[in-house]
Amino acid sequence: MTVLVVGGAGYIGSHAARVLRRHGFDVLLYDNLSTGHAALAKGFELVVGDVTETGKLADAMKRSQAVMHFAAHAYVGESVKDPRKYFRNNVEGGLALLNTALETGLRHVIFSSTCAVYGIPAQVPIGEDAPRQPVNPYGVSKLFFERALEAYDVAYGLRFASLRYFNAAGADETGETGECHDPETHLIPLALGAATEQGAPLQVFGGDYPTADGTCIRDYIHVTDLAEAHVKALEHLLGGGSSIALNLGTGRGHSVKEVITAVEAITGRPVRKQLGPRRAGDPPALVADPRRAEGVLGWKAKRSLAEIVSTAWQWLQRNHG
Ligand SMILES: NC(=O)c1ccc[n+]([C@@H]2O[C@H](COP(=O)([O-])OP(=O)(O)OC[C@H]3O[C@@H](n4cnc5c(N)ncnc54)[C@H](O)[C@@H]3O)[C@@H](O)[C@H]2O)c1
Repeated sequence: MTVLVVGGAGYIGSHAARVLRRHGFDVLLYDNLSTGHAALAKGFELVVGDVTETGKLADAMKRSQAVMHFAAHAYVGESVKDPRKYFRNNVEGGLALLNTALETGLRHVIFSSTCAVYGIPAQVPIGEDAPRQPVNPYGVSKLFFERALEAYDVAYGLRFASLRYFNAAGADETGETGECHDPETHLIPLALGAATEQGAPLQVFGGDYPTADGTCIRDYIHVTDLAEAHVKALEHLLGGGSSIALNLGTGRGHSVKEVITAVEAITGRPVRKQLGPRRAGDPPALVADPRRAEGVLGWKAKRSLAEIVSTAWQWLQRNHG
């Protein structure tokens, strides 16, 4: 059974590809390399193409029995400044992918959604039934695709899993792949960078939130745990299970200060930092209620914050050390 991993030369897709292979699936990668890297696809067959190149995509889909769709633009701030870019890639490109899947007879789609579909939640931890009210174009583009999947399920019998990630972090334990976004906006690689001589000091956005230490709280999930949930979701659909939308997080939040402490403990070096004002649109706390994913898939995140930070540190040292 071959799984087409669209966006497979990116951070999360390249981890999913490896976990799929460990579970015995054949894997075909499809990526336009706009933010991905051919090096992360090493050891896999990679078709270089855009999701809007539907002829090329259809050929790849005809060789596959299911698709995982990771391809998207994913910077919240950029989506506010340039929504057109986000709607073009995440919505128009997403629909091109979905329609090509229908036309080629693919009926199982796993989609990279995000906790950004909830916007600023009234309650934490966040359950899947919380209202979906995104507060930026990135979140809106992801919600649109979720809605399209729901409509295609009813109308055409397409089965999907919308997996709403919280904060993906860490790296594959083998060292074959890891995070290399440019620009990097994620806390853990930035804090690790700030513990090295080459990296910029870490900007901490707000120290006066209504949290125990005043800094924002997020739910960091190891990327390999995330990838394992994709395989479980795929097996659920292939086994005849109905479409699902699930939060993927650990259910435990960590503050920015706690992350800095973990980074300092693991690297043995101080994190140079600057405390600045809050960033508009950042909720004080975003933490998943992951119980539905455990109930439906029998999946639970296993890796701790320390494992996240240490695998990310090994990856950084190996690649930029
Ligand atoms: N990283 C996180 O914490 C996080 C959290 C929530 C959701 N997500 C979602 O997960 C997915 C993967 O995120 P990531 O961090 O691995 O990002 P990434 O940028 O590393 O990976 C995305 C990949 O998709 C490719 N791509 C983009 N547009 C394409 C197109 N039109 N055609 C073909 N390929 C295209 C890129 O080249 C890249 O390899 C995204 O959809 C993102 O919105 C990520």
